[in-house]
Amino acid sequence: MHMPAITGSGVFTPDQVITNDELVAAFNTYAERFNAENAEAIAAGNVEAKAPSSSDFIVSASGIEQRHVMDKSGVLDPDVMHPLLRQRSDDEPSIMAEMALDACGKALAQAGRRADEVDLVICAASNHERPYPAIAIEVQQLLGAGGFAFDMNVACSSATFGIQAAADMIRSGSVRCALVASPEICSGHLEWRDRDCHFIFGDVCTAIVLERAEDARGDHFIVRSTRCATRFSNNIRNNNGFLRRTRPDGMADRRDMQFVQEGRKVFKEVLPLVSAHIAQHLEDEGVTAGRLRRLWLHQANKAMNDFIGKKVLGRVPTPEEQPNILQDYANTSSAGSIIAFSQYSDDLQPGDAGLICSFGAGYSVGSVLVEKG
Ligand code: COA
Repeated sequence: MHMPAITGSGVFTPDQVITNDELVAAFNTYAERFNAENAEAIAAGNVEAKAPSSSDFIVSASGIEQRHVMDKSGVLDPDVMHPLLRQRSDDEPSIMAEMALDACGKALAQAGRRADEVDLVICAASNHERPYPAIAIEVQQLLGAGGFAFDMNVACSSATFGIQAAADMIRSGSVRCALVASPEICSGHLEWRDRDCHFIFGDVCTAIVLERAEDARGDHFIVRSTRCATRFSNNIRNNNGFLRRTRPDGMADRRDMQFVQEGRKVFKEVLPLVSAHIAQHLEDEGVTAGRLRRLWLHQANKAMNDFIGKKVLGRVPTPEEQPNILQDYANTSSAGSIIAFSQYSDDLQPGDAGLICSFGAGYSVGSVLVEKG
């Protein structure tokens, strides 16, 4: 058995940013136009008027201040309200593969590894551009990596589940150097015309290099243990798939083919699930909460992270102990905890322990206990 280690991480951040004020201005223009166009039906009680959104609500309900996206022009056009991303032809790289190439390149540079030394690529994300051929195999080819590659999807827990899969293969010896990439184009499956959730998501791609600890060429984090758990719930759901159920009126524009959530229920049900999961994981590994120097939590909601951090440490964590990046990136699904890890881990000292933890649709929870080597 070999000891797996994280030897590199990288983040591709789209350069287009949408602030809350820009987002709210576009939404409110859309809502005003909708209300004007449907004035008669609204007055007759047949159509519900659209209420305005507000930046103050967004910050207080979520902690999100802005998001990076692959295309802001379409999202902010009240007549469009979705990203305008050019569909790629079959002989061009897919958008997710391009994002992954950038993040993987950064992660490999940090690890001091060449792409041809990689023998596993996992593309772990909550939505994929196509079912097959796997995006991961395309990334493998574009990078010039060897071995094999596959896609996996566990929604917001995709990256941590991917890390567990790669770490297990490194432990057993079936692979020697793995890349786990998480390109998340959340803007493509968000309904930007829905006030309750239009502020939630952003786009990004993260990548992690895992290899045997004995092969590490520089700073690294030993993966002491990983733990994944799932419990079925409909409270975060996306019905987009190959079975195109039509609405009774035959309309193609089906709201449930994008992200849909019961936000309050998610809050209530996921918090105890995650807190208990982390407590049990630490207990089973004989690690006291006091030993944890850092929590890199899933980045969906600041109040959620504050609750979990306090529950795990038994006190309010300092911002250094539990860094948040969601104010800048919003919820980037599975990539969020990895962005936090990538941006806030350099200062840890050998022997310092930390925990990466993601949670979300499924429900799913994945935790990765690491120690600076
Ligand atoms: N602007 C202004 N007001 C808004 C609004 C907006 N954009 N969206 C909702 N509101 C209003 C609602 O109409 C409601 O008004 P009411 O009290 O008069 O009915 C009020 O604000 C509260 O709405 P609610 O949806 O209950 O907000 P919330 O406090 O639960 O926060 C979330 C919403 C989504 C931020 C929060 O539920 C959340 O983060 N949940 C978990 C998210 C999560 O982790 N999901 C996993 C995805 S991977």
